[in-house]
Amino acid sequence: MGRPAWIWAYEGYDPEQERLREALCTLGNGYFATRGAAPETHAAETHYPGTYVAGCYNRLVSSVQGRDVENEDMVNLPNWLPLRYRLRPAKAPPGPWLHPDHPYLVEHRQWLDLRGGTLSRRSVYEDDLGRRLTVEQDRLVHMGDPHLAALHTVFTAEGWEGELEVVAAIDGDVRNRGVARYRELADRHLTGWETGTEHGSTVWLRCRTVESDIQVALAARTVAACGPGADGGEHPAEPEQQPRAVQQNLLLPLGPGSPAVVDKTVALYTSRDPAIGSPLRAAVLAVDRAPAYPALLASHHRAWADLWQQARLEVPGEPGRILRLHLFHVLQTLSPHTAELDVGVPARGLHGEAYRGHVFWDELFVLPFLNLHLPEVSRGLLDYRHRRLPAACRAARAAGRAGAMFPWQSADEGREETQQVHLNPRSGRWLPDHSHLQHHVGSAVAYNVWQYCQATGDTDYLYGNGAETLLQVARFWADRAEWDESLGRYRIRGVVGPDEYHDGYPGAERPGLDDNTYTNVTAAWVLSRAGELCRDLPGSRCGQLFEQIGLDPGELSRWDDIAHRLYVPWHRGVVSQFAGYGELAELDWAGYRARYGDIRRLDRILEAEGDTVNRYQASKQADVLMLGYLFSPRELAALFRGLGHELDDATWHSTVDYYAARTSHGSTLSSLVHAWVLARVNRDDAWTYAEEALTGDVADVQGGTTEEGIHLGAMAGTLDLVQRGLTGLDTRDDALWLSPASLPQLSKFRVRLRFRRHWDVDLRLRAEQLRIAVPDSGRPGVRVRLDGRTYVVEPGTSRWLDLPEDA
Ligand code: BGC
Repeated sequence: MGRPAWIWAYEGYDPEQERLREALCTLGNGYFATRGAAPETHAAETHYPGTYVAGCYNRLVSSVQGRDVENEDMVNLPNWLPLRYRLRPAKAPPGPWLHPDHPYLVEHRQWLDLRGGTLSRRSVYEDDLGRRLTVEQDRLVHMGDPHLAALHTVFTAEGWEGELEVVAAIDGDVRNRGVARYRELADRHLTGWETGTEHGSTVWLRCRTVESDIQVALAARTVAACGPGADGGEHPAEPEQQPRAVQQNLLLPLGPGSPAVVDKTVALYTSRDPAIGSPLRAAVLAVDRAPAYPALLASHHRAWADLWQQARLEVPGEPGRILRLHLFHVLQTLSPHTAELDVGVPARGLHGEAYRGHVFWDELFVLPFLNLHLPEVSRGLLDYRHRRLPAACRAARAAGRAGAMFPWQSADEGREETQQVHLNPRSGRWLPDHSHLQHHVGSAVAYNVWQYCQATGDTDYLYGNGAETLLQVARFWADRAEWDESLGRYRIRGVVGPDEYHDGYPGAERPGLDDNTYTNVTAAWVLSRAGELCRDLPGSRCGQLFEQIGLDPGELSRWDDIAHRLYVPWHRGVVSQFAGYGELAELDWAGYRARYGDIRRLDRILEAEGDTVNRYQASKQADVLMLGYLFSPRELAALFRGLGHELDDATWHSTVDYYAARTSHGSTLSSLVHAWVLARVNRDDAWTYAEEALTGDVADVQGGTTEEGIHLGAMAGTLDLVQRGLTGLDTRDDALWLSPASLPQLSKFRVRLRFRRHWDVDLRLRAEQLRIAVPDSGRPGVRVRLDGRTYVVEPGTSRWLDLPEDA
């Protein structure tokens, strides 16, 4: 039997899986998110409730092996979920507090309704005397009003009557304890708790973050109705204040045919929110004004319906179900509300504490998808980077460089937040972390500026903030590139590429590698685009911009020279990941697989053995192959030609094979990129990688990492694999360029795009044909380029196009 397309369900309760399910059942709205934890429980080994507001960070200093290290974390905020209950049967002592781990649990099911954005649970408890309690609970984090959330619970008794004792709380006594590897680090980010009550039905808690001094306030209103049809009138809740928590206590009459309904409505504000006086006043007013649950649910559903309309991607079968879940989580992390905030793309969503809520280069896998659905969100995310351009320029200056050096890990201020040391859980050793040398993140920012402008035609942005960002990144690369007389080439030395297993040459004193091909080719691309942009800029803007950033027009010819003469190393007929990669030892892949089974985290395995992955031709993730992800084959060949190399199909195919055989896929981004690149070269094994990318989070392929937060880049990347990877969609020169690739297992799909002035371009791929429909709009038609021909699809019409034979 097929499974309902919009329902993501779990049957039964499995403590082993609980943290994973919590991450995958997180509800959010771009402003805040709450893990799908059971409201009956506290943080413990099995459960980890977590609530995170986008961009709410705090710094703490920890002592690690006698050394002070500072980390900035996305803060776990007070838990608004708690709702505990126990039976008080007539003429009998109260029963135990019930929760999923209690042996009285006899039935449990939970499911996400992806269309409506709710998490539901149905649990049945039965005690030794056959007294049953059924608990049906729906939860929402409101997509329309980003400050609201609600918990709607219906209790039904069978085989007993008496009272149900219910406690609904806000628990401020929380820490950042979600990631086992960070447990030795300071975790108490909140302080200054205060609690209170407001006209009986509302309680509140406020506190602030220790160092960033963000005020946080939550208010909750709990109302209960009992009796047949739950219309026997409201039952008052008794408030109770504690130093770090506040709760409402209820005693509800319950009996067969006489259920009780408890509605808890919550509001959450921080001092960073606009248009408020104080967060506390805003939160109390918001719960007071919030309508009863049915109306709240209806407006929440409407907001989701709008969103699904803007982000439509339909793929049949199981892959389609997983892709819908991915889209759901992408939209819950980056919604239209995000566009109003000063936040970036958190690598692990708002779903857990891994990577501390930091922003890496993962937006490279997210924005190209969003550009064609929610471009204002992309623009908001680009603004996050632009606001931190001065910080990136300061970082470059501090390193003795020109231009902008964006941090590998970014959080609130835009300074480098990469941890100084990381723990290898296998060896128990803390090791220096050199991943901040991944300066290629700057090219990702520049690439996204360009892609956004191509997809939307937003020249205001391109000539404004976009140009400032692009030029400063170009400038950094121009400054980083040093001329090597003996090679007759420019070189960029001492960096780390996307494969962060290689952070230095074996035995070298200093970290970093030379001539990372991905870094150099993307730098050449940035320099070329920046030069192109300078030629296109309206004269007055050009002069103003050059003056503003102190750029001498003479620099442009050097940029052009570097863009054509950056060094790209080769060995044995393939592109080298970096200079010297081909001389590293070959790893005994079969031996290691036989010994360890899962060798994705080869870095940890080798380090624990007293060895280092730096000695081997063994990569964590796609590095050279990332070029095939970012650039179409035509564009990539042109880029290489510009650098004086011939990258014909045969050479690219050998390069793909070479690295596919030497990659351990220690990052979820890796299988995604391999699926994309292999599909584009028509390889049968593309599906193996696509499957791994699709199941990466739902099956927790990286073994225990998803419970610490979803992999947002990989989730969005799988959506883009369909949208752009398999259609070969490129948005250039005001046209949709299509060049479909074949992946038989994903050969039928439909996607609705927002392309420049057109809101609903409908793209459908089926068998050997592609259909494009453009809604009636009175605007000029959409230009489509396919197989060397141009078609114009007029508004109000659709067109079937035959795919080229080799697609
Ligand atoms: C990957 C990076 C990625 C980061 C955050 C790491 O494991 O190697 O490429 O940016 O995770 O998702």
